[in-house]
Amino acid sequence: MKEQLIAPSVLAADFTRLAEEIEMVNQSAADWLHLDVMDGRFVPNITFGMFIIEAINRLAQKPLDVHLMIVEPEKYIDAIRKAGAHVITVHYEACPHLHRTLQQIRETGALAGVALNPHTPVHLLEDVIEDIDLVCIMSVNPGFGGQKFIYQTLPKVRKLREMIDTANAGTLIEIDGGVGLHNAETLLQAGADVLVAGSSVFGAVDPQATIAAMKAFKSVFV
Ligand code: DX5
Ligand code: ZN
Repeated sequence: MKEQLIAPSVLAADFTRLAEEIEMVNQSAADWLHLDVMDGRFVPNITFGMFIIEAINRLAQKPLDVHLMIVEPEKYIDAIRKAGAHVITVHYEACPHLHRTLQQIRETGALAGVALNPHTPVHLLEDVIEDIDLVCIMSVNPGFGGQKFIYQTLPKVRKLREMIDTANAGTLIEIDGGVGLHNAETLLQAGADVLVAGSSVFGAVDPQATIAAMKAFKSVFV
């Protein structure tokens, strides 16, 4: 049986103690480290780019799951891969030539991800599902950590699970935004494979126990 993957989001970490925070994740049951790149154009916030990813990569022992919330992501894919990304996720809404961009990501050797904003329906991915290694369903409007989970996300997860299974594709379903112990099990039962968790992990009294608890939930699908 496949186990769900847990990807703590560094956005909620204390950046004055970044090395310690990454070491906490290294020593935890987490599978990936989620890194949110924001450009102030696709989303109304700016975070970090290749320079910080490369520094994090020197400390992290978990694969880097890089979520690009930027316009024209195709310009930076090679550099993001060189900085150490294992998964590179671009936004559907930022890619007029999504198929080409997905090929570009796969050519670097990274896994190719596509993120969907809350208003973007999953059926738009039907014709490219076999070219996608991971679909990231945004369960908040991208740009900030610590927001409330949007509940309309749940039927999207179920629809996407059905689409992937029908196509017999190996695509992973990732959920990003407002994920915590209160909804992790429901999401897994709806068909999620990867849970991104920022504030619910880094804001917890015991982050490692929170990660372990998310990892311990059982899913009927994975
Ligand atoms: C939001 C980012 C998320 C964010 C999640 O735009 O894509 O990865 O860090 O944070 P929480 O888990 O606090 O909602
Ligand atoms: Zn993210």
